[in-house]
Amino acid sequence: MEPPRRNLAEVQKVITSAHQGTTLEEKLQFYDRWAFEYEQLYRHGFRIFHGVDGSEQMLQHAEQKRLYQELKQNILGHEPLAAPTDWFDAVIIVGALSVGQVPLSVIPELCRVTKPGGFLCLTTRTNHSNLQYKSELQERLQDLESTELWERVTVLDVKEWEKATSMEEASPGSDFISGTVYLYRKKVASASTQG
Ligand SMILES: C[S@@+](CC[C@H](N)C(=O)[O-])C[C@H]1O[C@@H](n2cnc3c(N)ncnc32)[C@H](O)[C@@H]1O
Repeated sequence: MEPPRRNLAEVQKVITSAHQGTTLEEKLQFYDRWAFEYEQLYRHGFRIFHGVDGSEQMLQHAEQKRLYQELKQNILGHEPLAAPTDWFDAVIIVGALSVGQVPLSVIPELCRVTKPGGFLCLTTRTNHSNLQYKSELQERLQDLESTELWERVTVLDVKEWEKATSMEEASPGSDFISGTVYLYRKKVASASTQG
C-alpha cells in the first residue's frame, strides 16, 4: 500500500525532527521510522549498484527498488566499508555528510574504495548548524588535493538545496538551505609515481 502523501508543512515537520541535535543512534532510529515513506521526497531515481546505510529500514526500502546488486548495513565513519581497495568507478554520498550524521573520519575510507580514474562525489548543507562541519569537510578536501593523488573536478554551490524548516536555518533572504556538491577524481598513478 502506498504511504499517505504529505503536504509541505508536514514534510518540514518530519525534516525538522531529523535535524534536531540528537545522537547518531536516535537519528538512525528516526530514519528507520521514516524509511517506508521516504521515497515521496526525491524526484530522481538512483542508478548505483552497491549501497550502504546505517538504517536497516532504509536498506530494506532500497532493496524494494531492485536497483542495487548489493545493500549492506554500515555505520559510516565508525567501521570500514566491506569493499576492496580501488574498487568502485564512482562513490557517491548524498545527504549524509552533516553534523550528527556521518563523521568526517569516513573520507579516507571513501577514497580507499574509489578506483584510480574514478570519481568521488560528496554533498553537504550550508545551514547555520552545519557551518563548522562544512568548514572542516573543506579542510579535509584541501588536504586530499595537496596529496596530489586526487584532483578537484568541480565544486557546485546550490542555492536552493532544500526547503528550510526554520528561519534560523535558512539562507539570508530565502526560505531555502543552500548546499554544495564536491566532485573529485582519483588520479591514475603515472609510471614515475608507481615507484
Ligand atoms: C537525508 S538521508 C539521505 C539518504 C540518501 N543518501 C539520499 O540522498 O536519499 C540520510 C541517511 O544517512 C544515514 N546515516 C546517517 N548517519 C549515518 C552513519 N553514520 N552511517 C550510515 N548511515 C548514516 C541515515 O540512516 C539516512 O538514511
